[in-house]
Amino acid sequence: MKILFASSEAHPLIKTGGLADVSGSLPRAILSQRQDIRLVIPAYRQVLERAGNLALAAYLKLDGVPNPVRILSGRLPGGNVKLYLVDSPDHFDRAGNPYTTRAGNEWTDNAERFAVFCRAIHALAVNAAGLDWEPDVVHCNDWQTGLVPAMLADSDTAPASIFTIHNLAYQGQYDWKTFNALGLPPEWWSMDAMEFHNSFSFIKGGLVFADWLTTVSPTYAEEICTSEFGCGLEGLLGHRRNKLTGILNGIDYSEWNPGSDLLVPIQYNRRSLFHKRENKHAILEHFALPRKEDAPLFIIISRLVEQKGIDLVIDILPYLVKQGAQLAVLGSGDKAIETALRKAAREYREHVGIQIGYDETLAHLLEAGGDLLLMPSRFEPCGLNQIYSLRYGTVPVVRSTGGLADTVVDTTPETLEAKTATGFCFQTASTAALWNAVQRAIKQYREPEGWNRIIDTGMRQDFSWKRSAERYIDLYRQVLDG
Ligand code: ADP
Ligand code: GLC
Repeated sequence: MKILFASSEAHPLIKTGGLADVSGSLPRAILSQRQDIRLVIPAYRQVLERAGNLALAAYLKLDGVPNPVRILSGRLPGGNVKLYLVDSPDHFDRAGNPYTTRAGNEWTDNAERFAVFCRAIHALAVNAAGLDWEPDVVHCNDWQTGLVPAMLADSDTAPASIFTIHNLAYQGQYDWKTFNALGLPPEWWSMDAMEFHNSFSFIKGGLVFADWLTTVSPTYAEEICTSEFGCGLEGLLGHRRNKLTGILNGIDYSEWNPGSDLLVPIQYNRRSLFHKRENKHAILEHFALPRKEDAPLFIIISRLVEQKGIDLVIDILPYLVKQGAQLAVLGSGDKAIETALRKAAREYREHVGIQIGYDETLAHLLEAGGDLLLMPSRFEPCGLNQIYSLRYGTVPVVRSTGGLADTVVDTTPETLEAKTATGFCFQTASTAALWNAVQRAIKQYREPEGWNRIIDTGMRQDFSWKRSAERYIDLYRQVLDG
């Protein structure tokens, strides 16, 4: 099959979160199952700097876009996946990240930027770019590609479309004036199309018009059909429930494997776990935290946003410190959360370390040297860090929601005995529930036999892409068969 995979970010070219990890590794897994899959992303400045050799593949004159848009072609570094870049310098060649300025504010022209991206994907999808390649399936991801299924819906000869929801909380919503300026079909401003509470919703284009919907874990697929997690779209999703599948994300063990990870000081595996301690010392040194015998080191690597429940962690800090635990945090995002964490690091100098910013190498070190990962998310479509943690022998403490519920097995006397326990889970998004799980984890940490068993079980789990990639391929086939 010929598949065009469209995403607004892809590791190792550009990344703000897990979407990039998935867009960088899933196409590779699908390619290795001998499917002709090609990736398309915007040619952000950073991408052009990192992409290596590129060739000019096409010039596109797109409706409503004054300057011509170039399609550049190359390969996604680290593999053989063919890459197309949508090069519209007016929209993508700027400093900052894909969605925000360096100061962290949304680009004011995001609607226009991603409408241009969608128009270019559509042109590739219907073979209007002169590339002599016509995909059978277009696989779109998140709101930035949401208009594509709507653009394809009008034509009988167009490829099939799949839309994957990585996070329903980001919808790409704009007012009427912005919609009007995009020059899109006026009938799209309707309840049956992309109008949503008197605004224009990019994600609805995918949800209403795609031939099939997927999301990134079975539990999140259930959750988004309820009002608690549906972000107002639960009615629509419930209506399409028979065309909505949860497929758990895989991870790329060639990047995230403690035995071969060149980004960490000391590599280790299940049999040389004692080396973790040297990586732990490297973390403590990095954060200027003292070495304390017997102090469990909790880590967090996260976008600092409401979703991730970091406020709950801030609430339990006094108790955590009293128990003698330490915490190292790497993240960036919401200014109020950043400030609260900085304050905590000043207050608990010997116990809390914080680095605001994005740092790939430090993320790997934290996984390699941490004792426990904290991920008390309010919702979590899949979550990748807890899966990385399992492989690195860093025991996850998670809220049982979305992909966290699908990947971590709570420690109870029974699961410990059965050697299925891999972490600590709690149900309610409350300080008390988190604290209860953390206490259980610390108690277990101080009982080495059981603790090592939990680590060992976690490190043996296999969340590689193969199975999930096969499920996507089956789904492409099923959709093509009508
Ligand atoms: P989300 O996509 O919601 O942010 P995931 O757990 O799916 O959550 O993926 C997050 C990805 O981003 C992981 O690969 C994680 O290591 C990475 N990440 C998040 N914040 C940072 C940061 N500040 N520095 C480096 N990597 C980060
Ligand atoms: C989103 C979700 C995260 C998921 C990632 C990749 O960013 O927040 O849970 O793992 O997408 O699918």
